[in-house]
Amino acid sequence: MDDVERAADRIATRVAEGLPIVCFTGAGISQESGIPTFRGESGLWAERDPELVATAEALERDPEAVWRFHEELRAMCREADPNAAHMALAWMETAVAERAPAPVITQNIDGLHQAAGSSNVIELHGNAGRVRCTACEFVSEDLPERFDRLPPLCECGAILRPDVVWFGEQLPRQAMEDAQRWSRLAGVMLIVGTSATVQPAASLPVMAFRSGAVLIEVNPEATALSAVVDVSLRGPAGEVMPELVEELSSELAD
Ligand code: APR
Repeated sequence: MDDVERAADRIATRVAEGLPIVCFTGAGISQESGIPTFRGESGLWAERDPELVATAEALERDPEAVWRFHEELRAMCREADPNAAHMALAWMETAVAERAPAPVITQNIDGLHQAAGSSNVIELHGNAGRVRCTACEFVSEDLPERFDRLPPLCECGAILRPDVVWFGEQLPRQAMEDAQRWSRLAGVMLIVGTSATVQPAASLPVMAFRSGAVLIEVNPEATALSAVVDVSLRGPAGEVMPELVEELSSELAD
């Protein structure tokens, strides 16, 4: 039995027990959709200091620089299509739906899981296609292709900000609560395309591991989690995930 077969077998066994197959994803799953990851030599943070474009202090200090970066990111997300890995997770959710939930907990802000058809997506770090006011309760996803002035202003006069989580900021409470609940219930946690370095998101696989979940990692490189996962599938998600769900499909049919 090769690693893909072992992973599919572990998932099928947990599905048969009715245990959730929880997917935890990071920037790597969107890399083959043309959206750069954050870390690594060609990552977004290799070319710019996140302290200057992805913190509340940076928005205070130089809102135009923060908005220029986020408008670049928003355009990349808008132009990107879900790749075979996103589609594979959406297929898996449908394939196991009668027997086990398959929620997706993502750190990504690109909306590609929803675009692929996944229906239970928990966005831990917000969404690049949504803005909120820094002063009042205004929130909107109805955005122009490009704002005609940066930073954009709310009708109340205050500046708007991307509705994403920056370094040092709290994650959306409900999203984190839901993610922690699924991590504790998981029969399997399928960890795809994350360096597993940023807290508190990176605590979720540990929570799942402590609750007895089988951990399966899909990543071309080793990560901080590689030492504790049950199966490591070394390769790009766009290639590995279709192989995994094809193997799972025949396991589920048995
Ligand atoms: N398929 C699967 N994994 C890949 C691929 C690919 N094609 N290409 C790269 N990877 C892996 C890398 O090996 C790395 O482990 O994806 C991971 C990307 O790691 P990061 O860039 O650190 O992204 P992520 O883990 O999502 O970062 C978490 O950090 O900057 C913050 O808020 C930001 O949500 C982000 C968080």
